[in-house]
Amino acid sequence: MSENLEKFISRVGETAEENMLVKMTLSKPVNKHDDLRNIYVKPVLIKEKRLFAFTYHYERRDEVKNYDAAQMLQMLREMLPDRFLNAVLFTVNEDVTLLVSSKGKSTLQTKKVQECREQNLEHDKQKNRLVNPANPWWYQLGLTTREGKVTADMQHKFKQIYKYAEIVESLIKPMKFEGTVHIADMAAGKGYLTFALYELLTQKMNLDVDIKGVEIRPDLVLKINEIIRSSNLKGMEFVESSIEDFKPEKLDVLIALHACNTATDDAIASGIKAGAELIVCAPCCHKQIRQEMERSGKVDAITRYGIFLERQAVMITDTIRALIMEYYGYKTQVMEFIEMEHTPKNVLLVGKRVGKPNNRDSILLKINELKKQYGIGQHYLETLLEIQE
Ligand SMILES: C[S@@+](CC[C@H](N)C(=O)[O-])C[C@H]1O[C@@H](n2cnc3c(N)ncnc32)[C@H](O)[C@@H]1O
Repeated sequence: MSENLEKFISRVGETAEENMLVKMTLSKPVNKHDDLRNIYVKPVLIKEKRLFAFTYHYERRDEVKNYDAAQMLQMLREMLPDRFLNAVLFTVNEDVTLLVSSKGKSTLQTKKVQECREQNLEHDKQKNRLVNPANPWWYQLGLTTREGKVTADMQHKFKQIYKYAEIVESLIKPMKFEGTVHIADMAAGKGYLTFALYELLTQKMNLDVDIKGVEIRPDLVLKINEIIRSSNLKGMEFVESSIEDFKPEKLDVLIALHACNTATDDAIASGIKAGAELIVCAPCCHKQIRQEMERSGKVDAITRYGIFLERQAVMITDTIRALIMEYYGYKTQVMEFIEMEHTPKNVLLVGKRVGKPNNRDSILLKINELKKQYGIGQHYLETLLEIQE
């Protein structure tokens, strides 16, 4: 290890010991294509313990890890100069800069600062949250006070929004995008979940987005676009349109949460036709299939009870949707959206595009068996996609 590097690391150790370390940055990756772009370090106080929060800024996401002083120094030894060529230590009274050239030659500069700085030991929780209620649009949407506190009667809603953001993050994180991510949130309503999506993708995952909230009610579209404009959010827009009429030119992710009855089918069909990589929907009021089942007069040991017929109609509707998505090359998953006590509409149907399956005939057979068993003529999604029996 070079003398300058050793000096830099021991200066970091001393300032950490003396509680004088304000922040530190590691930048200029050795490998220009390194997914890890830079690291930002700041001291934090967690459960009375002084630690150092390392924020790893990757190309498309951030990751935060906390280390004690010894681990921090170890981490510096691993990162300098093998991963990064520049490091700057900001202490309360000086800046120490280590520069390593691509040939391995290093320089160390120390500069006294004019005005002493203070250590800020607050953990930057707000910034690391998937959805930050302090963002001004949450106040404009009526979820928080002016100071960014979620109001008592919106706690439930906020919890739901947060849960949704967690699920969407887990689905989107493994995906690879080239350039802007094109997203449509169909039947976007008041835009709560659209804003959460925007926040998650742009602020947390550092993605460039083109998010369209598709909503049929002009008053909502007007209101939400005003909030988008006043918050200066680039890459998001609400469009006044029915799902059926909205024809996206490019679509990576389709979201449709609580789109009533067959509007969910319109959304899924639109996602399939546009070749969306990910389809996420929370179906709502499954009238079409229930009415067909009732009309057929066919009942079995389960559906002879009205309440079970209703539940069975929900499961059949969504099972056939999942099968149709599989037929078109999606790997499907059904997951719980939020706890039952908040709403019975708590199922998320997720499809990830994997390519045309080689068992299309057996998928069709399963669909037809279900329809026959419950006296269903055609699922509306079949009609939209013109699946022939
Ligand atoms: C129950 S809200 C869901 C809002 C939001 N997605 C959520 O989960 O909080 C349904 C919204 O979909 C809109 N909507 C219903 N059918 C639609 C259609 N065919 N095209 C576009 N929007 C529709 C309604 O105006 C309403 O705002």
